[in-house]
Amino acid sequence: MKRNDLFREAKRYLAGGVDSPVRAFKAVGQPPVFMKKGNGKYIYAEDRRRFTDFCLSWGALILGHNDPAVRRAVQAAAGNGTSFGAPTRNETELAKLVSACVPSIERVRFVNSGTEAVMSAVRLARGFTGRDAVVKFDGCYHGHSDGLLASAGSGVAGLKRSSSSGVPDDVVRKTISLPYNDPEALERTIRRLRGKVACVLIEPVPANMGLVLPRPGFLEKVRELTSRHGIVLIFDEVITGFRMGLGGAQGFFGVTPDLTTLGKIIGGGLPVGAFGGRKEIMDRLAPEGNVYQAGTLSGNPLTMAAGIAVIRGLIANRQAYARMEKLVADFAREWRAASPFTVNCAASMFSIFYTDRPVSNYGGACAQDKKAFRAHYRRCLGAGIYLPPATCETSFISVRHGAADLEGILRSARRR
Ligand SMILES: Cc1ncc(COP(=O)(O)O)c(C=O)c1O
Repeated sequence: MKRNDLFREAKRYLAGGVDSPVRAFKAVGQPPVFMKKGNGKYIYAEDRRRFTDFCLSWGALILGHNDPAVRRAVQAAAGNGTSFGAPTRNETELAKLVSACVPSIERVRFVNSGTEAVMSAVRLARGFTGRDAVVKFDGCYHGHSDGLLASAGSGVAGLKRSSSSGVPDDVVRKTISLPYNDPEALERTIRRLRGKVACVLIEPVPANMGLVLPRPGFLEKVRELTSRHGIVLIFDEVITGFRMGLGGAQGFFGVTPDLTTLGKIIGGGLPVGAFGGRKEIMDRLAPEGNVYQAGTLSGNPLTMAAGIAVIRGLIANRQAYARMEKLVADFAREWRAASPFTVNCAASMFSIFYTDRPVSNYGGACAQDKKAFRAHYRRCLGAGIYLPPATCETSFISVRHGAADLEGILRSARRR
C-alpha cells in the first residue's frame, strides 16, 4: 500500500486517522509517516525508509528503540501473564528505584499515562490543602484532563482557542494560567487569591512550547512563594524525569517540589505515569486517605518490568547524561553559527524555533515562521531525519545517538 493510502485508510476508521493529534502531521502539511519498527537511534517506516529518530516516542525512549535489556524484561514478564489486578513485587522494586533517584518522592503511585498522573496529583493537592485554585503557566502542557488544557502547549497550541471545546467554563475557572518566567505575576496572583491556591503546577523546564529554560532564580522563587503560602508545588517531570539526569530537573536545579509527576521514560515505551512526593501528602490517597484514585491496569507487570530495566540501565550508564548533554550543547553552538533560527537546549533536549529572537515564554514560542518550519522539516525528512512534527515541540537524543547524527540536522540548515 502506498504512503498516502495508509493514512487514507486509517482516516476511514480512526478519528482523524490517528490516536493522538500531533501525529497527524498537520503542521507539516503532508500525511504522516507510518512507522513499522525501531532499533537504537533508528526508526523504520512502512515504506522501508530509515530515519534517525529525534522524537523517540516524544522523549520516552532515552535508551533508544528496542533496547535489548528492556525487550528481554518485557518478554520475560509477558511469559507470566499480562495483568493480575493485584500487587506484584516489581511495583515495589520500581518504586524503590524511583525514590532512590528522586529523593523528594517518598511514596509513589503508578498510573497509565502522564495525563492521569497530573490529574491525580492535582486532586491530591486539592484534597490535602482543602483549596480549589490551580496555578499553571502558559504553554506548559500537563496532559488532556479538563482543567489543565487552559493555555496549554503541545498539540493544544495548534487549536484556535486557548483550551478545548467540551471543557466547561466552570472547570477552567479554577485554573489560572500565568506567563512562564514571571515571578512577579505569580506573587501578585497568590496574594490576590489569598488562601485559595491549592497548587502551583509547573514543567520545571517546559518542553511543550518547544524547549524553554527557566531564568536563573525563577524556580527558586516559585518554591519560596509556594512554601510561604502553604501551596503544594507540583513539578511535572513527565518529560524531564530521568531525562535531565537520574534526579530529573529537581536534581539538576536543586529545587525540591512537594509532588512530582513522571511518565514516558519510566515505562520504557509502554503506557505509564506516576505521581509521588512527601509521605504526609501521599498518605491522603485512598486506601489510607480519602482522596480517591484507582486504575485497573495501574502498575502493569509489563510496564513495571520495562521501567526497572530502563532505570537500572541508566544507573549503570549514568555517565551517558554528561555525554548527551555535551553532544546537544555542541550541536546548539554549531547551529547558531549556521542558521538564523533560534535553538534552545538543555541536557539531551533541544528545540529549533523558526524565529531569530530568543524564546523564553509562550508568546515567543508562538511567534514562529510556520512556513520556514515546514520547509526545514520536509528537508530533514527527505534526508532521513525524523523530528517531532510541529513547531511547539522538543527534540530528544538517546544514549545511542552520536555527533554524526546531529551533523545531519546541521547540514539541513546549511542547505537553505
Ligand atoms: C510535561 C507533560 N505532562 C503530561 C503529559 C501527558 O502525558 P501523556 O501523554 O502520557 O498523557 C505530557 C505529554 O507529553 C507532558 O509532556
